[in-house]
Amino acid sequence: MTNSNLSIALKSHQEYILLAKLAKISLNQTLINPSLAINKYGHKEFLEKLQKLRQGHPLDYLVGEVEFAGKVFKINQHSLIPREETEYLVTSIQEFFKGSQKTICSSQIISKHSTRLHLNKPDLVVDIGCGCGVIGLSLSKYFKEVLMLDISKEVLDLAVDNSKHLAVDNSSFSFKTETIKTYTQVVDNYWLIANLPYVPDSEKEKTVEFNVDYEPKSAIFAGQDGLDVYRFYLHELSKMKQLPQLAVFELHKDNIHKAQKLWNENINKDYMTEILVDQNKLPRFLICLPK
Ligand SMILES: C[S@@+](CC[C@H](N)C(=O)[O-])C[C@H]1O[C@@H](n2cnc3c(N)ncnc32)[C@H](O)[C@@H]1O
Repeated sequence: MTNSNLSIALKSHQEYILLAKLAKISLNQTLINPSLAINKYGHKEFLEKLQKLRQGHPLDYLVGEVEFAGKVFKINQHSLIPREETEYLVTSIQEFFKGSQKTICSSQIISKHSTRLHLNKPDLVVDIGCGCGVIGLSLSKYFKEVLMLDISKEVLDLAVDNSKHLAVDNSSFSFKTETIKTYTQVVDNYWLIANLPYVPDSEKEKTVEFNVDYEPKSAIFAGQDGLDVYRFYLHELSKMKQLPQLAVFELHKDNIHKAQKLWNENINKDYMTEILVDQNKLPRFLICLPK
């Protein structure tokens, strides 16, 4: 499809989506009258972004925002593009809090202990590896406080920005691991949810194939088995007096069973653990709940 006002003809559905999102005009309207959308956004600016899209830059980075569990989050090159698996988890937790009969991602152990989890409403949720903030900020209304932690200063700035534009006023941000201890020792109970880097380094050569070439490698890869960062936080948790009332880790199908074994070996207090599948039926979430 071509348009006389465009010096470059739009070639694909994705290019129309880019234009619609940048111009903040519906896709239908953009398909009918692309020049209107181009004029609204700016001809030169759009051509620059179109060129980048054609070079392989992800659409979401070019638009600068994503929709996640019904809210819009700003993203940039420092943050991971949030994944559907994470949205599946977060939506399922939201359903749980809304009192739905469904348990979190069909968990047997949460189902069995859901009364306890509902009665002892947690004061705090700790989101480790928060990125642009999709997990903690989406769940903030179910907790008195949210602690968002990330190793990247740039990403934390983005999460702070998102908390402001989403009007979340009960969130704190830190890049220091010790903050977890400071926050958790003054509350009765807390949840820990972590989507840390979990991909084995051996998959680094497949970044183009998996379409993650433009994303920060520090958000994705974590050593030979993909569990280096997970191992670090297990060690931190093993030293803490106050352990979470529920811990949820998003992990890789190839290392999640090893991660479960590591939890059982490293965390002294008796926990039940279960591996849950994502929307594609792949083992993805490790759930840990005290007995
Ligand atoms: C897989 S991304 C997840 C981001 C976000 N939670 C999401 O779902 O979109 C992992 C995040 O963990 C952060 N990270 C990497 N190493 C870390 C560490 N040692 N401690 C805390 N965060 C870390 C990265 O900067 C990145 O933002």
